Amino acid sequence: MSRILVIDDEDVIRMLVMEILEAAGHDMTGAESAERALTLLEDAEFDLVVSDVVMPGLSGLELLETLRTRRASLPVVLVTGAGTYDTLSQALTRGAAGLVTKPFAHAELQAAVADALERANRSREELRERLLAPTLASALANAIEARDEYLHGHCERLAALAVRLAELQGLPADEVETIRLGAILHDVGKIGIPDRVLLKPSALDTEERRIIETHPEIGDKLLAPLDLLAGARPIVRHHHERWDGAGYPDRLAGEAIPLGARIVAVADSIEVMSSRQLYRRPSSPEEIVEELRNCSGTQWDPAFVELSLQLIESGELELGAEGLRLLERAPDETPPAGLAVLLVEDDDVHARLVTNALERALDGAVIARAASVARASELALGSEWSLAVVDYVLPDGLGMQVLDTLRANDPTLPIVMLTGQGSEETAIEAFRHGASDYVVKDRDYLDALERRVRSLVAA
Ligand SMILES: [Fe+2]
Repeated sequence: MSRILVIDDEDVIRMLVMEILEAAGHDMTGAESAERALTLLEDAEFDLVVSDVVMPGLSGLELLETLRTRRASLPVVLVTGAGTYDTLSQALTRGAAGLVTKPFAHAELQAAVADALERANRSREELRERLLAPTLASALANAIEARDEYLHGHCERLAALAVRLAELQGLPADEVETIRLGAILHDVGKIGIPDRVLLKPSALDTEERRIIETHPEIGDKLLAPLDLLAGARPIVRHHHERWDGAGYPDRLAGEAIPLGARIVAVADSIEVMSSRQLYRRPSSPEEIVEELRNCSGTQWDPAFVELSLQLIESGELELGAEGLRLLERAPDETPPAGLAVLLVEDDDVHARLVTNALERALDGAVIARAASVARASELALGSEWSLAVVDYVLPDGLGMQVLDTLRANDPTLPIVMLTGQGSEETAIEAFRHGASDYVVKDRDYLDALERRVRSLVAA
């Protein structure tokens, strides 16, 4: 059951909307004006607002705008009698969570509300996960570091280097974040290693080595029930594999070793060599460089040894007795890379025209084109996008399918839907599937597209 506030100056319509939504199990409150609604919103918690658009005093669109600044996460579904493109387009730009045109069927209103509530829940959950995963990772890492004073700060330091190596490799932001989590958690399995082995102040014998070498598998199993940290598991399991296949636990070799694990293996070793350990002095920077060169291509992936050596040479990576330290980089002088735009359009002529319009609207935009749902879905998941423009009809399906994939992957990505003429229902459907805006392909649609894209990307 959700708490819903319904705003309509016409009593009959307000009652009707309340009745329909009450029948769907929601807890309803009514307000006869936007002003009254704002007062109610100050004192009570609501999960969603359903508002009329045309009202005396503050209009539904103005209310929407006010709520966007005061209560950005509160979804607003607009009910409009004037089912014009204009209202629809304004509602989209101002961030409405749904739109229902009068006259509406009961099921239609209920579906729009259910949809908006579900999307709001999903983005709340995603936010929670994004915040929770790093916190959980740090807590687990602290549990390891607390047992061994020499490890204090080790995970954070090596994670900083692993992140830098991943960035230099040009990996997308979400992979870099997974590598950061994996780096922080890499030794989490040491929780299962007894003190007499973990903290032994002298060299380990064969049996003790065997015990300590179980920590990657223990860590992997430990994380298995935690969906939030699933991406880090291959790094935890494989951070002691060697490029030549002589590592553990699975004796993987070369590129069969997950990329993140190869990065963390180098970063971990550099950090361990440069910091004070239980029964070993830290190596000097010269010794570390020599070790890296000697074991490149046997213990470690030569590509990441090379990147590490470059960081040491440029002075960005400092190796001191307190462990490694990455120096603050001077702000990038190079202009930011162009915006990455995904264009999904099967028609060659339109694709060329739209590409030109996008290039006019967005300076230095890099535009990737897909001509089918299948190809678009592949691209949608493979890279980070700043904007997507999606045609409605595609040879192997509908643009809505692409919208669903894009939305699931990135809840905040601006997406413009291109629709045929006179198809308001299509626009509403696109909107329900998470489109941020739509442009009808009429005679002047390229100008409209240019304008919309500019304002969406600027927002
Ligand atoms: Fe380890």
